[in-house]
This record gives sequence, C-alpha cells and structure tokens, in this order.
Amino acid sequence: MIVAIDGPAGSGKSTTARRAAQRLGGLYLDTGAMFRAIGLAFLDQDQPFTDAAAAVLVPSLTVELDPHPDTSALTVRLNGDDVTERIRSGPAAQAASRAASLGPVRDAMLRSQRAVAADWTSHGRAVVAEGRDMGSVVFPDAPVKFFLIADIEARAQRRAADLAARGETADVDQVRAEIAERDRRDQNRALAPLQAAPDAIVLDTTALTPEEQVERVVQTVRTVQ
Ligand code: C5P
Repeated sequence: MIVAIDGPAGSGKSTTARRAAQRLGGLYLDTGAMFRAIGLAFLDQDQPFTDAAAAVLVPSLTVELDPHPDTSALTVRLNGDDVTERIRSGPAAQAASRAASLGPVRDAMLRSQRAVAADWTSHGRAVVAEGRDMGSVVFPDAPVKFFLIADIEARAQRRAADLAARGETADVDQVRAEIAERDRRDQNRALAPLQAAPDAIVLDTTALTPEEQVERVVQTVRTVQ
C-alpha cells in the first residue's frame, strides 16, 4: 500500500504524512528531505544549478533516510553525514527547489524513491510518501492520493512557526515571499511540476487541525484496504 501526499510548501504534508505513517505502522518517506540534502550538496560544493554540474555531482552523492522506529521521525544523511538540521534552513529550501528542476537530480531521486518503497511494500508494510510528484509521477498507481492545499497566509504562518521553533529568525513577510517563489518554480518547471494527479483527493487544510488531516488519510486508506 502506497499513500501519496503532495502539495505546496506549508500545506501540512509533513505532519500529516508522518503521523499517518505512524498510525498505519508504515514508512514515512519524506522526499522533500532528499531534495534538500541534494540542494545542500550543491551549496556546500559551490556548484551551479545546471544539468551539467548535476550530472557530475549527483552520482557522487548518497542520501539516506533513517526512520526512528517509534516516532517516524527521520535522520537524513548526506554521504554519511547527519544533515537533519541543516536541510531545514531557508537557503537549503531554495537550493532544493532549484536542484529539483534538473533532470539528473529528478532521475536519481525517482529511482531511489521507488527502490525504497518497493523494499518496504515487499515486506507488507505501508509507505506514506510525501512530496510534489508522488501521485503524478513517482507512484502513479498508488491507491490513495491526496493533494493538500491551504491559503498562502496560513502556509506562511506555519513555516514561520517551524523556523522559529528551530531558533531561526522568521519574518512572516519574508517567509511568504520565499514559499511563493518556491511554489512558482515548482509549478512551472518542465519536469514533474507540482500538480494534483487527476485521481487525487484535494484537501484544503487551511481550517483543519493536523489530527483532522491524519484522520481523513487513515479513513481513506481503510476504505481501500
Ligand atoms: O517539501 P519540502 O519543502 O521539504 O521540499 C523542498 C523542495 O524539494 C520543494 O520546494 C521542491 O522543489 C522539491 N521537491 C520536489 N519533488 C518532491 C519533493 C520535493 O521537487 N517530490
């Protein structure tokens, strides 16, 4: 069973996917974390965001997501280094979005996401995969697909609260501008743009609590099991 959850920045995907995975006893596959780790590698190695640079850089990178068995939280490793905290910064988010428009990056991520999911599902476990193209490109046959949306204001407030909780200064106006820029880039790119799969359930989370969102996902999974 693969559950695909897509949507723009701050739409509630991460909390919903993580908690749904926990309820279902499955794997939380945070594909944004994978793109963020790759984006960080571009920054760390001072590489331009071009296909040519990506074709050389990406094969030298290993991105691993280590799930914590009890919490569904993930430790993210880039070439063995723990980058769990570093990938959450504003610059890492922008770098992720720029790297995510490049063919060599998308190809490598698609292969690795499918391999991880195949491994889990072959052991009878559910996978709750969160990102931008889970239902549209990576797992087009997923029996449950959600596309989360929310007002830009609500999304900016959530992201600012996330950053503040991590001790980063978060100006809501700046956060709003950054997520709008990222959404625009993610929606308009040629490869795997951010869009709802035709068979996705569109859920507006503006006025929903995380518990209500998780409940919707879990109930939908129960109906197809
Ligand atoms: O979800 P998160 O904000 O962590 O994602 C960071 C960036 O990674 C997104 O803005 C998007 O450009 C990219 N991404 C993607 N495809 C995915 C997941 C994330 O292009 N499946």
